[in-house]
Amino acid sequence: MKKNRILFFILVAAGGFAVLQSCSNKRSPGRTYMPDMQYSRAYEAYAANNLNKEGINYIPEPVEGTIRRGDLYPYNIPNTEEGYAQSASVKNPLPLPLSDDQMKEAERLYHVYCGICHGAKMDAQGPLSTGGKVPAVANLTTKVYVDMPEGTMFHSITYGKGNMGSYASQLTREERWMVVEYVKRTQLGDASQTAPTTDNN
Ligand code: HEC
Repeated sequence: MKKNRILFFILVAAGGFAVLQSCSNKRSPGRTYMPDMQYSRAYEAYAANNLNKEGINYIPEPVEGTIRRGDLYPYNIPNTEEGYAQSASVKNPLPLPLSDDQMKEAERLYHVYCGICHGAKMDAQGPLSTGGKVPAVANLTTKVYVDMPEGTMFHSITYGKGNMGSYASQLTREERWMVVEYVKRTQLGDASQTAPTTDNN
């Protein structure tokens, strides 16, 4: 009887020790009951390794120098002084006028990405500008910017200029051209009249 009791205590103590042990190592999940559920055995169908093993030649990256179907051609003018001058002759490659939907989207993008500095009315009265956080914001309603070629605007928002950063990672080429068209139309005072109702684009 006494023996059993001692055995019982030893077992309880050992159990408690095991529990404490498994909790002490925070980095380990401890004993895994069903490893298949804990660790996924997913098969990555498009992983080059897997396909190449089966004799299929699959290249996960796009071939250099190619573009996605429907994409605009890359903008190749470099971010240099000569490039800036050259950008003046670049024309908007999108079919113009933009559709009403594109114009609405361009306006939305302007307010999301540009208005914070340039202001809703493009007069450099955005909160970051009036609050003094970003000095020397361009007032896009003044003559120098009204006369600025669309290509130069595209160039500047692609690479950034002065206190303005690059928008190449936030906006696709197409979106940047849409925003430039929105700025140009607004400067000319006809943002709402870009798409003739007869044109179904
Ligand atoms: C962080 C504030 C800020 C934001 C956001 C911003 N800009 Fe600017 N922008 C500036 C400043 C400052 C300048 C003046 C740069 C210079 O000439 O030194 C400028 C200049 C410009 C110019 C004149 C470029 C040139 O070549 O002189 C255009 C056009 C322009 N911005 C359009 C945009 C558009 C479109 C967006 C949104 C995609 C945008 N900006 C977002 C601060 C901003």
